Amino acid sequence: MRDRNIETLYDQIGSDLIDQLVEAFYPRVYADPDLRPLFEDDMSEIMRKQRMFLTQFLGGPPLYSQEFGPPAMKHRHLPFEITPRRAECWLRCMGEAFEEVGLDKHPAGELFYSRLKQVAMIMVNTGVDK
Ligand code: HEM
Repeated sequence: MRDRNIETLYDQIGSDLIDQLVEAFYPRVYADPDLRPLFEDDMSEIMRKQRMFLTQFLGGPPLYSQEFGPPAMKHRHLPFEITPRRAECWLRCMGEAFEEVGLDKHPAGELFYSRLKQVAMIMVNTGVDK
């Protein structure tokens, strides 16, 4: 724990599990026909960014902002058509990755997933499924 009394989700989950989650998640995203067309061919940069973002999102060190500035995730996702179906696919991939790394059974897993779900819903920027 850092310099305070409230334990964050990051304190509970830790960087190893975040790394494992990201490693389990993106191969699923890249195998998903609804999601794959949105992403660059090289998976390594988005994995690096997501590790940094999730670290900060869970209350750990602000690694993402140190390199990229304010997260502004809704804004950063505007160039991509995020339909309700794509949000569902994203969350399904994430749910499977949670199971693969055991976060579904982790004491902090449910809260972590519910927060991802909230953000995924906010990311939807078009109602049109293609
Ligand atoms: C709802 C469905 C979502 C879709 C379809 C989606 C799709 C994408 C795409 C296409 C990119 C750019 C990838 C690239 O540059 O190759 C991206 C970037 C990113 N996404 Fe998502 N995303 C979704 C939800 C989320 C959620 C819920 C989070 C966080 C909780 C998130 C975090 C990020 C981060 C950190 C980046 C990197 C931003 C940057 O370029 O600095 N995304 N996403």
